[in-house]
Amino acid sequence: MSLPKRRKIRTFALLFCVITFTTFLFSYTFRDPSVYFFKHAFRLSDNFFSKGLCACQQCMTEVEDDPWFAERFNQSNHPLMTRENSVLSDETFKWWQWLQSERQPANFSDVVEELFQVIPDEVLYMDASPKRCRTCAVVGNSGNLKGAQYGSLIDHCDFIIRMNQGPTSGFEEDVGTRTTHRVMYPESAIDLDNTTSLVLIPFKTLDLQWIISALTTGTIKHTYTAVVSRIKANKDKVLIYSPTFLKYVYESWLEGHGRYPSTGFLSLMLAVHICDEVSVFGFGADQYGNWHHYWEENQLAGAFRHTGVHDGDHEYNVTLLLADKHKIQMFRGR
Ligand code: C5P
Repeated sequence: MSLPKRRKIRTFALLFCVITFTTFLFSYTFRDPSVYFFKHAFRLSDNFFSKGLCACQQCMTEVEDDPWFAERFNQSNHPLMTRENSVLSDETFKWWQWLQSERQPANFSDVVEELFQVIPDEVLYMDASPKRCRTCAVVGNSGNLKGAQYGSLIDHCDFIIRMNQGPTSGFEEDVGTRTTHRVMYPESAIDLDNTTSLVLIPFKTLDLQWIISALTTGTIKHTYTAVVSRIKANKDKVLIYSPTFLKYVYESWLEGHGRYPSTGFLSLMLAVHICDEVSVFGFGADQYGNWHHYWEENQLAGAFRHTGVHDGDHEYNVTLLLADKHKIQMFRGR
């Protein structure tokens, strides 16, 4: 082949490469769906394709990938209550009061005002950015954690969200040692150390009055059952789960299944909205089909699935779907 001909071919090849690459970058920038073909077909680096929404390998806020997730996930819903977002619509208030059939509630806005004189009124964790990679472990109380040896995996996360009575002491190898957040309600509350955030799920106005009382005077000792009158917790780290968010979880994610979502599902949804990467431990039955807690010897004790107010099966199926769609990573234990 003559020299000018070879040069021509080389120039043509170079031009072809430049045009292809520019077209590809252009379509990527303007969210051409063909990019998603490239992404999945060639399994190129997630970091490159995460569009800089966060600094992790996978970003929770990347919704374009999956219509099912995009239809349900609303990033503008804040999971935690502040003075500003505490005002409830009539519909939300009625629904919320119905959950545990509170008969003569105190004035909600007065209670909220009193509450934020005891605990801080701050917007927390809604700081998703290309620089943030917040990894979270949500640790449920399932017996499938027994012997699972997830301790160090859990302890490596930034946030470790536990719930209700789930202990770490004596179970460190399986469930880890650190707890950054503990999600509970008055009837399931336990004492915390100074570094852990207590996340209260209020199911009635009295629950908000209880946390005020438990951190100060200790006068409330009874809700629908006996409750601890005082709680050891760092007041500056107490957070309140928003009733509006609770309703959103129930309607958008559970589509009305059960009377209301379980602590575990609400904790998972908290993580989905404040974390970039979510790993889930201790949900579901163990290998023998038992739904007990990991600290219980009796496999029939504390059978979460049969509470009557939650739809454990449906919640578990939604959790599995999130895992199938690579939105969360599920560790199923033993
Ligand atoms: O029993 P408890 O409500 O304290 O457990 C916390 C959460 O852990 C539950 O709300 C549920 O989501 C999850 N769990 C589970 N399977 C079990 C026990 C608990 O999924 N066997």
